[in-house]
Amino acid sequence: MLAIGSDHAGYALKQHIIAYLRAQEVGFQDYGVSQGEAADYPLAAQKVAQAVAGGACARGIVLCGTGIGVSIAANKVRGIRAALCHDTFSARMCRQHNDANVLCMGERVVGAGLALDIVAAFLATGFEGGRHQRRVAMIDDLENR
Ligand code: RB5
Repeated sequence: MLAIGSDHAGYALKQHIIAYLRAQEVGFQDYGVSQGEAADYPLAAQKVAQAVAGGACARGIVLCGTGIGVSIAANKVRGIRAALCHDTFSARMCRQHNDANVLCMGERVVGAGLALDIVAAFLATGFEGGRHQRRVAMIDDLENR
């Protein structure tokens, strides 16, 4: 299950991605916002991040105007490795090397077509483990200090 959410500035992109997820038959849970609802981006990030950190969803996607605010906020939740990606290379690498569990994008930054390619890369790519596992464990250590 995939968690997806946005603030008002990411709403249109969220709906675009949801249509794609439906077409691809990817299971998801929509954590809002609803159309016309103004929402603070830290709250949008918190809802998606907690769904992933708590185990309700394996991965998440969270969107705002730039993607920056939601990525900063999501990374404050223990166990979250949120990656801000506006290109497919980064979307692949954040999975292969960083085992990112939340993808962040900005609706005011990325076009709708590219955004779907980024989502596809994020969902299709696995973590490589090996030497990268040790480095991800070092991030966990930082978090536990
Ligand atoms: C909302 O205007 C905007 O500040 C927000 O969506 C995001 O870009 C923050 O990082």
